[in-house]
Amino acid sequence: MCGIVGYIGQRDAYPIIVKGLQRLEYRGYDSAGLVLYDGNDICLTKTKGKVEDLKNKAEAASCNTGQLGLGHTRWATHGIPNDINSHPHYSNSGDLVIIHNGIIENYESIKKALIKRGYTFESDTDTEVLVNLIEEVKNTEEVKLGQAVQIALNQVVGAYAIAVFDRNKPNEIVVAKLGSPLAIGIGDNEYFVASDASPFIEFTNNAVYLEDEEMAIIRPGKEIKLRKIKDDAIAYPNIQELQLNIEEIEKGGYDHFMLKEIYEQPRAILDTYRGRLLADQGLIRMAGIDQNLEKFLNANRIIIVACGTSWHAGLVAEYIFEDLARIPVEVEYASEFRYRNPVITENDVLIAISQSGETADTLAAIKMAKEKGAFVFGVCNVVGSSIARETHAGAYTHAGPEIGVASTKAFTTQITILTLIALKLAKEKGAFSDSKFHEYLTELEAIPEKVETALQSNVLIEQIAEVYKNSSNCLYLGRGYNFPVALEGALKLKEISYIHAEGYPAAEMKHGPIALIDDQMPVVVIATKKGHYEKVVSNIQEIKSRHGKIIAVVFEGDEMVSELADHIIEVPETSEPLSPLLTTIPLQLLSYHIALMRGCNVDQPRNLAKSVTVE
Ligand code: F6R
Repeated sequence: MCGIVGYIGQRDAYPIIVKGLQRLEYRGYDSAGLVLYDGNDICLTKTKGKVEDLKNKAEAASCNTGQLGLGHTRWATHGIPNDINSHPHYSNSGDLVIIHNGIIENYESIKKALIKRGYTFESDTDTEVLVNLIEEVKNTEEVKLGQAVQIALNQVVGAYAIAVFDRNKPNEIVVAKLGSPLAIGIGDNEYFVASDASPFIEFTNNAVYLEDEEMAIIRPGKEIKLRKIKDDAIAYPNIQELQLNIEEIEKGGYDHFMLKEIYEQPRAILDTYRGRLLADQGLIRMAGIDQNLEKFLNANRIIIVACGTSWHAGLVAEYIFEDLARIPVEVEYASEFRYRNPVITENDVLIAISQSGETADTLAAIKMAKEKGAFVFGVCNVVGSSIARETHAGAYTHAGPEIGVASTKAFTTQITILTLIALKLAKEKGAFSDSKFHEYLTELEAIPEKVETALQSNVLIEQIAEVYKNSSNCLYLGRGYNFPVALEGALKLKEISYIHAEGYPAAEMKHGPIALIDDQMPVVVIATKKGHYEKVVSNIQEIKSRHGKIIAVVFEGDEMVSELADHIIEVPETSEPLSPLLTTIPLQLLSYHIALMRGCNVDQPRNLAKSVTVE
């Protein structure tokens, strides 16, 4: 978590750092800080709160000049969010300044050793320990900053993306990475550093993504030089041309990124299947699958690992893969999987799903599965992310940047990719006829238009939100393909509105949660006409008999549920396996409106961060 940004060149660093931090705020937003250096004076400002608070504080202190700058937006791990624990951090001499995204796990022992040598610490952070360790190495070994960083990093355990400079070397920033992302933007006589490319996209399209255990010394006017932290071997920068454009990372007229991203789903789903779904030719073409077809077809089973919303997409995929392609699937929380010594064989295929491509637990699960010989396939949104690079093959979702912390378009595009894979494997295995296959392709092709129609319920959903905005609890029920949608609906509501919500398989309700139902309990039921419809209707009747309030998501033209429910939200009809792509839309809008009406920060809910790079 945390976002880092840096600049060194001829321009004023201040606006680049502030704007960069605003774009990275999705990564953490409990405090922020920046440092500027003009070769003579260093000016450092930091504060608990948002980047906007930092900007006000920096401007009040006229802390806005210098051609070298570093900035940090924090999601607290070590030490509460306050001014002192915010980054950047000085070393004891005041010569070195650092920003850091990650965790130094052995910081306590290093801190004790440094204290014995006379170092003092202002903050509770692991980062202040690291910058002082670098200083100690620099002084005792009498080496330059780059070497000191390298030696120090060989003594730490943990994860980091760091940028550090030395007051005595105003023309140089040293950066290093292990486990947390770090991109370097290459301009004309200038360099940018950031957790992702969004802070520098309007300045340059050329970027290098550091690999784990790489470091670089950056000096304007000089070529970038990469080294391996472990053995000092020279690494060659792979300069990539970025595809990102500026409109994609702005709000584009919407009040919130989340709303923009909900409305982007028709386009995002289309971009996901563009060039892959060729309905007129009766084909699905996906390079990552085509080149590894035998691995999938001969797999004993598919293990899906992910966290949060991506895990919910994995659950939908379990239904699709087993139902259509008849391949056994297990879906695992990456955080549990990595620590429970699972049985993995060379005949297993592991699919890792991650929007950010940086989730620490998912990354660790991938590494473990690779060590045990499994073939690992990634489904990521962020191009060039750690997970995309760590997997043997993969498919990007092409959803475009997702900035709202609550995942929306990532979920539907992940399901789209996984559906394409399942359909392709089902076809290859001869699990269904050409005409059935064609039917699915045409149906999937029609989804963006149907999502567009589903979005038209926005006003109705806003009215429903008004009725339930003060609820303390909410239950979400679904069955089969729509059970994961119920889980996802509940997660969306709790994370942005702070209303306690639970998702349940509808039939499980009578094994416990039914005790919660009274006339104060809104129950969102996904009751699409296909797949256990009558059984869900019975569950609705059970809720009604106990005076629960029913908000039902149904296919257009439904009559039976309409008679029972307090509120009906219609989505266009589609085949059962594709229904999550439509039923999830009203649930996203419902959470959005309720959160907004409760005065919550929709895009940056409390305690959360978009990219969970700590375990
Ligand atoms: C919820 C949400 C999180 C993420 C989870 C995994 O709205 O966004 O639950 O889904 O942190 O993140 P990724 O997909 O980046 O691995």
